[in-house]
Amino acid sequence: MTLSVHDIHTYYGRSHVLQGISLEVEDGETVALLGRNGAGKTTTMRSIVGLTPARRGRVEWDGTDISGLPAHRIARRGIAFVPSGRRAYASLTVRQNLALATRGNDPKGWSLDRVLTTFPKLNELSDRRAGHLSGGEQQMLKLGRALLSAPRILLLDEPTEGLSPAIVSDLGRWLAILKEERITVLITEQNALFALKYADRGYIIEKGLVRHEAPAAQLRESAEIQRYLGVSAGV
Ligand SMILES: Nc1ncnc2c1ncn2[C@@H]1O[C@H](COP(=O)(O)OP(=O)(O)O)[C@@H](O)[C@H]1O
Ligand SMILES: [Mg+2]
Repeated sequence: MTLSVHDIHTYYGRSHVLQGISLEVEDGETVALLGRNGAGKTTTMRSIVGLTPARRGRVEWDGTDISGLPAHRIARRGIAFVPSGRRAYASLTVRQNLALATRGNDPKGWSLDRVLTTFPKLNELSDRRAGHLSGGEQQMLKLGRALLSAPRILLLDEPTEGLSPAIVSDLGRWLAILKEERITVLITEQNALFALKYADRGYIIEKGLVRHEAPAAQLRESAEIQRYLGVSAGV
């Protein structure tokens, strides 16, 4: 299952935000989508999942053109988007939120039990209302929900946004688990070095265009890239 984005152009009204983004995510890869604030990272994900469809260009999934499909049909094909910010059902408990997200009985997929064992913190919080969770706990719940939807690829938009350093390191452990499981991931991050720790490859986008693509190890070591992304070594 490969995700291929070919030369997509996306607009908000008359504002031409994505000006020909192309990228690929191969089966089992973790790919980082990096760039300064406003570069078009979130819009790229929204275009892939059909929430802000591209006006030109093509998105292919497993060789099939999915551009133009409504968002719910794209989701049904196993492309799970985990937006930043809080999106869980606030008045339901953690367990109810997870139960709602569970799709079918995919024997190869993640069961509720497995999610609760992998994220023991969710188990501890299972009777807590989602509206009462901290930012990090919400993030964990969203990731758990996404895994239960039997995803073939996870699109994680700025998962560390607003999280404390301790929670960021927890999140790093979950990303490592996803990688061991060879779950395909496309991740955007302001914290570029965090994403590059887990990524195989990275794209750097600027003003709606891909400026650079390289193996993550190379991006991690490039002082020029780090300066561009506004990170200092050792972050
Ligand atoms: N809903 C919207 N309406 C109009 N402009 C938007 C909207 N969302 C984002 N933009 C603009 O599109 C550009 C890309 O935004 P975004 O994809 O959110 O960037 P990133 O995720 O890289 O920070 C920015 O200039 C932003 O101001
Ligand atoms: Mg964004």
